[in-house]
This record gives sequence, C-alpha cells and structure tokens, in this order.
Amino acid sequence: KRQKLAQLRHINSLANDYFRNVFKYHNTAARARLYLAERGLSQETLENFQVGFALPNWDSLLKFMNKQGYRPQAVAEAGLALKNENGRYYDRFRERVIFPIWDVTGRVIGFGGRVINDTTPKYLNSPETVLFSKGHLLYGLHLARRSIKEKGYVIIMEGYMDVVTAHRYGITNAVASLGTSLTREQGRLIINYSRNVVIAYDSDAAGVAATLRGLELLQEIGCQVRVVNIPDGKDPDDFLRRHGYQAWENLIEQALSLIEYRLRQAIGNKPVRTVSGKLEVMRQVFPSIAGIKSDIEREESLKIISRFLSSSPEAVTAEFKRFEANLG
Ligand code: UTP
Ligand code: MN
Ligand code: MN
Ligand code: MN
Ligand code: MN
Repeated sequence: KRQKLAQLRHINSLANDYFRNVFKYHNTAARARLYLAERGLSQETLENFQVGFALPNWDSLLKFMNKQGYRPQAVAEAGLALKNENGRYYDRFRERVIFPIWDVTGRVIGFGGRVINDTTPKYLNSPETVLFSKGHLLYGLHLARRSIKEKGYVIIMEGYMDVVTAHRYGITNAVASLGTSLTREQGRLIINYSRNVVIAYDSDAAGVAATLRGLELLQEIGCQVRVVNIPDGKDPDDFLRRHGYQAWENLIEQALSLIEYRLRQAIGNKPVRTVSGKLEVMRQVFPSIAGIKSDIEREESLKIISRFLSSSPEAVTAEFKRFEANLG
C-alpha cells in the first residue's frame, strides 16, 4: 500500500517534469508558449507555476513512462491514462497546457489541462485518485500560505488562470477552489492559515450563486468573509490584466460583507419603497442573519439592513424576531 502511494507520487512527479520539458523545448508546444505569452505570463511565472504542455499524440506520455519503467496500467492508476473498449491505453491529457496541482507541501498530486483553442471541455482535471481529491485541496496554497499569514487574509478565486495572474501581479495570497463549488473541506483547509477570507469568484451567474453558497459555508465554520464584486461578469484574471494592481486593491477595499452582498443581490440598484418590497427583501436576507453566531455581529447586520431599507433598526429587529420564531 505504502509502495503503491510512493509509485503514484513518482509517476506524477515524472509526468510533471515531462510536461514541463515539452512545454519549454518541443516544437509542437510553440503554439502553447505563444498562447500563454499572449495571456501575459512571463517566463518567471511559468516557472513558478511549473506550467507544462501535453502533446496532441495519443501516447506520448505513455511512451515516456514506459521508458521510465512504468506500465500503462500504473499510468492509468495515476489518472494520466485511460483504456478504450479494445483494451488499449491512451493519454488522458492531449494538446493541452498543463497546470500541475500540488498538496500544501508542494508535491504534485494531479493536473489540470487547458485547451489552446475553442474545443470543449475547456479544462480537464485529473480524476479522483488516492492522492488527488479536488474538493480537498486549494490550487496554489503551497505558494500562497506564507503570504496569507503575512497579509492576514486569503483570497479565493475560481480558476487556475486567476491565481496565476494574481501572483504575477504580486497578489500572492490568492488560491483557487478549481470551479465554483467551495467545499467544507476546502473551508477547513483555509482556516489553518487565516479566518479572514475574501471571495473573488467570477461575476457571472454561476459565480454569484457559488459566492452565496461559499459565504454561508465559510461563515458557518467561523470565518469573516467579504466579497469582491468584479464588474461586467469578468474574473480576476480579466480584471487585473485590464485594470492593473491599483484598481484591484480598490476592489478589495470595497469588498462587501455577507449581509451587504446579500442585500445588493436582493435589491439591485433601485431603492425599495413599498412595504411589500421591504418585507420581500427581509425574507431573502434573514436566513443569512439566522446563521450568524455572534450577537454583536447579528445586531450590526440588522442595522445594515435597516439602513438599506430606510426602516428603523427596531422595526427590522422585530421582523427578524418574528422570522426566527416561525423557524421554530
Ligand atoms: P472558468 O470557466 O471561469 O475558466 O472556470 P477560467 O479559469 O476563467 O478560464 P480561462 O480564463 O478561459 O482560461 C473556472 C475554473 O473552473 C474549472 C477550472 O478549474 C477553471 O479554472 N473548470 C472550468 C473545469 O474544471 N472545467 C471546465 O470545463 C471549466
Ligand atoms: Mn466557472
Ligand atoms: Mn466563469
Ligand atoms: Mn478566465
Ligand atoms: Mn473565469
């Protein structure tokens, strides 16, 4: 069992070296190098994130592994090859830019691969293996953990490119949940480093929904959470490349608390004037208030609601008490 684990680790590590070398030196990787240069990544960033490339062929990695003494079945167990109906093995990652994924100590445990054209799926990840479980890790954590402690907060983003670009701009306390569903395990992982969390998900519909879920989850496990609102449905990578570091810092300063974010979502930009409108907004945001453990924090949140709705704190508090009583 131990030996098996060591073998999986070795295969991942060898594959990482292989993909990186292909990316740096292979003719066929020229398009991938150009693609990432056009996305603004420097040599240093590419090195830092150990970016690689998988060739278009069906068995490049398998051949390489064979030379290293690893049978196709072992490569498949590491999640790097698949078997077709005829029992033939083929490489999982083909013609993709490769982002290795590390555990907190920096050991490679899996990979993500991005197409360099418009084919789908845009990203492909390693399957769940003994080593790799997507819901239990945060991309870039081993590169970010020192900075998270120094800056006193962590920024959670959606994707590989968000984190890579963030680090390039000196935002080294950024990690990614790799997709939009933050898990409890990822939340637990974070609080080893900081309970101050900023969520910076894409501002598209999927990102907004995930932000709300993530907020609740993180609050439940005792985090102070704020949300960055990136304009125009964009993500941190888009925003940074377009507007730069200072504009990003401004966004962070204007980050919203859970209750402000919920209110913003429920209200939009127009003021709420009618009684029924106000009751509707309260109905939407009260569930988040009910989840707040600290009395002082709850009181503060009720005050914020009253300000947003131009109602008295007393009236809002009374409405909340009624809401709570109905929860039973
Ligand atoms: P996005 O669709 O927002 O991609 O998915 P992105 O990171 O902005 O990609 P670029 O900028 O076009 O390169 C966010 C994250 O969700 C996961 C990946 O981790 C991705 O970085 N994802 C997305 C997948 O695993 N598979 C997919 O097909 C798409
Ligand atoms: Mn997405
Ligand atoms: Mn998105
Ligand atoms: Mn993006
Ligand atoms: Mn995105």
